[in-house]
Order: sequence, then C-alpha cells, then structure tokens
Amino acid sequence: MINKVRLFSHLQELGEIGKLESGGITRLVFTKEDKAAKQLVSSYMREAGLEVRMDAVGNVIGRKEGRNPDAPVVLTGSHIDSVYNGGIFDGGLGVIGGIEVLQTMNEQGIVTEHPIEVIAFNDEEGTRFSFSMLGSRGIAGILKPENLEHVDKDGISFAEAMRDFGLDPELISQATRSKDSIKAHVELHPEQGKCLENKNLSVGVVTGINSSLWLKVTITGEAGHAGATPMNIRHDALAAAAEIIQVVEQETLKTGTAVGTVGKLEVHPGGINIIPGSVEFTIDLRDICKTVGDGLEHSILSKVRSICEKRHVKFDFEVLQRVPPVPCSDLVQATIKESCNKLGLEVYSLPSGAGHDSMHIANLCPIGMIFVRSKDGISHNPAEWSTPEDCEDGANVLYHTLLNLAGAS
Ligand code: GLV
Ligand code: MN
Ligand code: MN
Repeated sequence: MINKVRLFSHLQELGEIGKLESGGITRLVFTKEDKAAKQLVSSYMREAGLEVRMDAVGNVIGRKEGRNPDAPVVLTGSHIDSVYNGGIFDGGLGVIGGIEVLQTMNEQGIVTEHPIEVIAFNDEEGTRFSFSMLGSRGIAGILKPENLEHVDKDGISFAEAMRDFGLDPELISQATRSKDSIKAHVELHPEQGKCLENKNLSVGVVTGINSSLWLKVTITGEAGHAGATPMNIRHDALAAAAEIIQVVEQETLKTGTAVGTVGKLEVHPGGINIIPGSVEFTIDLRDICKTVGDGLEHSILSKVRSICEKRHVKFDFEVLQRVPPVPCSDLVQATIKESCNKLGLEVYSLPSGAGHDSMHIANLCPIGMIFVRSKDGISHNPAEWSTPEDCEDGANVLYHTLLNLAGAS
C-alpha cells in the first residue's frame, strides 16, 4: 500500500509552485515556475530511488530498473504544467502518484521483470502556445518542427522559449521512442467531472478519451466611429463573433454528447468608441465519437460562413490541433479492473471528457487511465479538489496495475 501522507504532502508542496492569491496555480511551460516544478519533481524521483533524466522535449523521467533491463518499459505519469489559475490535482496527481507507487515498491524491495518509468510530461495543457501535449507528442514521434512556430501572447515562439530553457528545438526527434520499447502506459488523473461523485465511488476505469479540435478564427470587418456610423452600414466583427459563439453552443447542444467552448477572444482595436474591426477567438470541440465530432465541425463551419456572408465580414480559420478520440486498451482496462477487485473497490467504467497525454502515447502501446473522484466535478479552477483518501485509492489501484503489467517478483 502506498503512503497516503507522503503522497498528499508532496502534491500540496508541488501545488505551492506558481500559487496565486486565488489559491489556484499558473504554471506555464518553459517559465520559472515550470523549471521549479521540474526540479522539485526530479528531487522526489531521486528520493524514490529512481534514475532521473530530462529528454529532448523537456519530459522529466524517473526510471526504476527491472530484472530484465532490455524488456519493454511500463510507463506511468501525467503532467505538472497548469492552465491559468488552475488546480493542483490536474496532472500533479498522476506524476506524484506514479512516483509514490515506485517509491513504495522500492521500499518493499520489489523488483519487477520490466522496468517502470514515471514521466512528468512537458506542457500537457498547451495554455501558453495554444498547442498542447508537447512532451507526449515528442515521445510518440508526431511532434513536427512547424509545431514549434506557435507563439505566446508576447510573440515568443515555442522554439525560442525552448532554447531559453536550455533545450535544442533541432533535437526534438531524439525524444521519440519505438513501439517495441514500451509495453503499456497507465495514467492516474482526477476525473474532472461528476460521474464518480454521483456514484459515490473513489475511482473509475477510463474507457476512452474524447477527441479534441482547436480552431483559431479571425473575423475581419471594418473599424469605425461608434457615434457617427449608422447601425445599418456597419461591419462589426464582434457582433458577428457573438452570433458565431451562439452557433457553437447551439450546434454542440444538438449532438447531445459533444462539448464546444469559446475560451479566448481578442477584439481589435479594442476601444470603447470604436466599432470592432477584427476579432480573433478560439473554438474547442470534443466528442468521444469521431463521426459526431466531424459532423459538428462541418455544421458549425457552414453556419459560420453564412453568418459572415450575411454580415459582409471576412472569415478565416486555422486548425491549431486535431486529435482523434482514443479508446483505452482492453488489456489495460482489464488490469485496472483486477486491481480494483483486489482492493475491494467497485469497478465503474467511464469515458474521459478532457484530453490527456495518454492519447499520444496510444500511438506506441496499449494505454489506460485510472480516474479519481473530483469534488463537485470542478477542474481548471482553483476549487479543484480530491480527498487524500480518494487519491490514496487511485494510487493503490495504480500500484497493483503497474505491478501486474511489469511482472511482480
Ligand atoms: C486539458 O486539460 C484539456 O483537456 O484541454
Ligand atoms: Mn487540464
Ligand atoms: Mn490533466
């Protein structure tokens, strides 16, 4: 059994890095907060008896050697970056939980057949550059040099930020791992929804992960005088955007399953007495079924085109990222269920609404996820909370799952 007190105190200690007055954290990739978090997590990994390294895309990796060092490795892990004003469990739980499990195994003198690695994946959230999961894309070999051209709000490119952090963008392919080098990957994560709470259960077995499509939309109208321009001759970019945002909500609601969000919007030139000349905003669309997700994208885009024609404004969009839905492997789900049974925890299966690094690692090996109950289903919010007891249950399920996958002595 893992050490609940150590697990929770490490989680809270990590949660001090990037802490804001709101109680939330902002820890964006390649910032000083990110560096401090990576250092702290590396120190926990060393204390746990793991061999620590940082790979070419900034993933921090702690390895526990197996009896057969050449056997494919079993992976676990999650992320230590956050959104703006986020919570301490999203990502942190899976990293600290993974380290805790390996530390417990070392303390118990357990040597598995396969090596096990815990990874703090770099930049899962994608908050700074509106492009997510740098670290897991790097490992999966799907990170392209052009992905590093994304810029942050100050115009700094991903590649520049990476260089400032001490990593060489030319060397990203060195992080790529081969399919035959990894046996399986298991991620522990808060649910970020209310299903487990409604069922009064501490943990759940994830069946699959929602797709995610991120678009950047630009509407170009005509700036003008807010007092002197009659309503009937305006080309107000923000008024068009407002209608589009309604369409995103309405079309998404019609599917019954998908979720759609406009989370970021910039108005230019942005003056109280100026008709907005152009507006840039993002659209985030997700569904567990590719057909539903694709259909939603098409219906929204066709409605947006007719709104823009009617209003005589110009519409452009760019796909920032597109990740298809990913099913969790039957093998890993069955292993997680067996672990729940062993611990006397009810087996309950549910899909993941949020995206996770596991989606990209699925290109290399079977993946699975263990969810831990989230208080009130809240996440990406300082009020995010999971109890120490629920985190303990989740980490114990991870312990047995890794032991089973890696071959206990
Ligand atoms: C990450 O939390 C995401 O799903 O966007
Ligand atoms: Mn998140
Ligand atoms: Mn997360």
